[in-house]
Amino acid sequence: MTAAPGTDSSSLLGLASVAPAVPSEVATRSALASTPGLLAATPGLLAATPGLLAATLSSTPPSALSTEAVPPAIIAAMRRAIELSQNGPAWGINPQVGCVLLSPDGETLAEGWHRGAGTPHAEVDALTNLAAMTLPPATDASASTCTDAAPAASTTPTPAAARGAIAVVTLEPCNHVGRTGPCSQALIAAGIAEVYFAVSDPGASSGGGADTLAAAGVRVHSGVLADEVEQSIHSWLTATRTGRPFVTVKWASSLDGRAAAADGTSQWVTGSDARADVHARRSRSDAILVGTGTLAIDDPSLTARTPEGTLLPHQPVAVVIGERGIHPGAAVLDHPEPALEFRTHDLPAVLDDLFARGFRSAFVEGGPTLASALLAAGLVDELVVYVAPLLLGGPRTALTDLGITSMVDARQLDFVSVDLLGPDLRLVARPRRRATDVTTTTSRAVTDDHTDASSRAATGRGLGLGEAAAATSPLTLVTPKETPDVHRNH
Ligand SMILES: NC(=O)c1ccc[n+]([C@@H]2O[C@H](COP(=O)([O-])OP(=O)(O)OC[C@H]3O[C@@H](n4cnc5c(N)ncnc54)[C@H](OP(=O)(O)O)[C@@H]3O)[C@@H](O)[C@H]2O)c1
Repeated sequence: MTAAPGTDSSSLLGLASVAPAVPSEVATRSALASTPGLLAATPGLLAATPGLLAATLSSTPPSALSTEAVPPAIIAAMRRAIELSQNGPAWGINPQVGCVLLSPDGETLAEGWHRGAGTPHAEVDALTNLAAMTLPPATDASASTCTDAAPAASTTPTPAAARGAIAVVTLEPCNHVGRTGPCSQALIAAGIAEVYFAVSDPGASSGGGADTLAAAGVRVHSGVLADEVEQSIHSWLTATRTGRPFVTVKWASSLDGRAAAADGTSQWVTGSDARADVHARRSRSDAILVGTGTLAIDDPSLTARTPEGTLLPHQPVAVVIGERGIHPGAAVLDHPEPALEFRTHDLPAVLDDLFARGFRSAFVEGGPTLASALLAAGLVDELVVYVAPLLLGGPRTALTDLGITSMVDARQLDFVSVDLLGPDLRLVARPRRRATDVTTTTSRAVTDDHTDASSRAATGRGLGLGEAAAATSPLTLVTPKETPDVHRNH
């Protein structure tokens, strides 16, 4: 195990050779999926016992994909930042982001996370918390405010303790210029000396903060626990890279793949545990999509509810697609959020419209026609399929025609997780990237970015030896550029 070329962590307690606790992306994915509490429970323990962390990680068999040299205190802080990020909402236009500020010797100074659009970003939240601990109420107002709200009177404080400190943040600090001040500027103004982040911000206008920081003399490293963060904000990253909402298609079927009985009834194919899981997933989504066929036959309310029927705090917007539109008296008209109606079959146009409205995740609960049309058009990022231990037979299969006539054209998937929910199976799968797929990753030409490199590696497209090497050495030192804004025109 070797340190990534050019890494400079002289301010910390010294480099230690470490490997991530879980040695591959697939293993990470399934571990996170099967034990969601594990990630949440572990970071605090690891942060409290960095020696234990180093020992644990050192004893893990090294992985060719992700072996790297990162100070244990940074790994622990990043795990804590991931945990903090989960406090923010999973829906909405912004991702979940967490930040930990460390002193030069690795002591935690302050923590922060992003609470959703219109609130301070994680880095500014951490700086504000540090100021609250160290400054009198009237704070130094020399730094920028980084929030999605319109410019406010208050600005980011610059506590003295931030000078020379280290910021560990799950996402590249933003570079937005416009109605808000960028996080990169807030960190520079506060005197932060070193920044570690996990994944680059693929946003056309928000990305590039690493270059801004490096140009200002801040030591910037990317790729720390990148696989974990990629998974935790996978849907937001995918939506930002593709320019449309992350599309999850859900269905419930019998063991023989029927989504409804011959008479069209489909309530309830699965049991209460599976239904509770569906409602939890609805409440983490921006929109819930159905076709007019499901509306006509099932008349669903499309709300997210507890098993007792109480509305969950966040409700997805109900979206009905089809030329018939929403019929008078439909239950969806009583939804707490006004429903959207698209009298069209043009699914890319619908998704474009939803993205423009700020929707980054769409949970599809339509019938076989809408699900198949989305799949045939290549617009699906994830399948969540509940399989009940019952047989229905008959013609109402979960999918109709996908335009596939031969096995060579089969849509290949990878299972992300397989779980038993009460008597039912829950299968989560994602499309396997094909060698011929065109990348949807926003490639930033100047920054040597682990996220883009690993995405290219995953697709297996045109990987030269140099790119492959970058993909296996995820920790990258971002070096100052002579003209840091040269690539900002993508
Ligand atoms: N088991 C489950 O998980 C589950 C879930 C939902 C529904 N279901 C069952 O599925 C059945 C309804 O199936 P369904 O396929 O009719 O429902 P659907 O897929 O929700 O709706 C189909 C309708 O959507 C419209 N549409 C929108 N975009 C389209 C496109 N790109 N291509 C073609 N049509 C498009 C068309 O209506 P227009 O003519 O108005 O344009 C079409 O007839 C019911 O029996 C219901 O109980 C089962």
